[in-house]
Amino acid sequence: MSKKQWGGRFEEKTAKIVERFTSSIDVDRRLYAYDIQGSIAHSKTLAKAGIISAKEARELTAGLKKVKQEIDAHTFDYNDALEDIHTHIESRLAQLVGPVAQKLHTARSRNDQVALDVRLYLRDTVTTIIHLLRRLQKAMVRVAKRHVDAVLPGYTHLQRAQPVLLAHHLLAYYEMFSRDAERFNDCLKRINVMPLGSAALAGTSHPIDRRYTAELLGFKKVSANSMDAVADRDFMIEFVSIASTGMMHLSRLSEELIIWSSAEFNFIELPDAFATGSSIMPQKKNPDVAELIRGRSGRVFGDLMAMLTLMKSLPLSYNRDMQEDKALLFDAADTLSACLDIAAQLLPKIKFKKSRMQAAANEGYLNATDLADYLVTKGMPFREAHHCVGQIVRYAVSKGKEIQELSLAELQQFSDCIEAEIFDFLTTQQMIDRRTTIGGTATRAVRAAIKTAEKKLKKC
Ligand code: ARG
Repeated sequence: MSKKQWGGRFEEKTAKIVERFTSSIDVDRRLYAYDIQGSIAHSKTLAKAGIISAKEARELTAGLKKVKQEIDAHTFDYNDALEDIHTHIESRLAQLVGPVAQKLHTARSRNDQVALDVRLYLRDTVTTIIHLLRRLQKAMVRVAKRHVDAVLPGYTHLQRAQPVLLAHHLLAYYEMFSRDAERFNDCLKRINVMPLGSAALAGTSHPIDRRYTAELLGFKKVSANSMDAVADRDFMIEFVSIASTGMMHLSRLSEELIIWSSAEFNFIELPDAFATGSSIMPQKKNPDVAELIRGRSGRVFGDLMAMLTLMKSLPLSYNRDMQEDKALLFDAADTLSACLDIAAQLLPKIKFKKSRMQAAANEGYLNATDLADYLVTKGMPFREAHHCVGQIVRYAVSKGKEIQELSLAELQQFSDCIEAEIFDFLTTQQMIDRRTTIGGTATRAVRAAIKTAEKKLKKC
């Protein structure tokens, strides 16, 4: 039976139920590699300060590497009585290297140790997530390029508004994911701060060189205030907040795929391999992947709320409540990563029904704004043109026709500015290709946007 590392002050043994209740090993065991990396750097720092000998530091390092091998190989024993990953590793180290293991925790507390571990974890995780975002963006740009001539109705209020290129629509998501990646990249600055040496809360009386530890672990900065370093979790909250925004973007994309695959829209066919059927209705093909991405966004938003709530009333510095942060952090990171991964795989396999999308873009008076713009080019003030076209639409609706299906004579009843050229002017293609301003949906502008995106992605 293991003796508690903090057992000296206690007369009674910890109740089993308390051990189970307070243990975090099931959650924090995944930090083991970071914990060991941190301990190796710490033992070198202790040696540099003359607190332990170089030989002792080598013994500790060798022992820690051995522990890592055991955990890697799944031969390591876990036990609730040992509370968390930090104590597990230290107690196994003691079995492997003997009394020298007792020196490792000099000038350190689990409070600065756990802060270090999650920062190391997040540094890697953020890098992986940025990579996953880039992969999704690459898939998006490839799909956009492949369908650069496909047109669909653009919507506002989920009502058909104006025709756009499918590529333009997809590139809107490309932009959102670019900003997500930028935000992740930026938060690395605040993650990349080395907390070790803050000890329990007040710093340590041992003369350790914190900059040296930071250097060993590849940190740019050391934390400036020991209480802040062990007490705050804003870098995690920031991460989960950015993850939430990313999930919100993924969820909107998923929502579009869900409605586009419905019989009512019928714009896309989802790949069989990424859909499932119904246990009762044989005809069903459900967009489950997109639905689950949409659903899981709620989980990540929940992680953010839970984390903010967890922290909001905690007095400085460390409080045990903060142990709960890791389950939330891992859930947010895992959920986002899985959703980015599957979205990147799903996207290229979607079949876009171009003629259906095109037909939808030709119906529903999507050229009304362009007719008003036409009247403006003929000298009519825009408000007057808007009113005039409104009347034309009302007339066309009463005849059960589209604007382009009215005769020139019918159109001229509303304004004698209208000439025969109007019919070309109002075709979907011309409407799209007139929107040449930067950021517009003209084929030329979209092709240029694709090129810019490709160039940017090549650099990542
Ligand atoms: N398992 C703890 C956590 O995740 C580690 C820090 C414990 N510190 C303490 N003073 N009990 O927060």
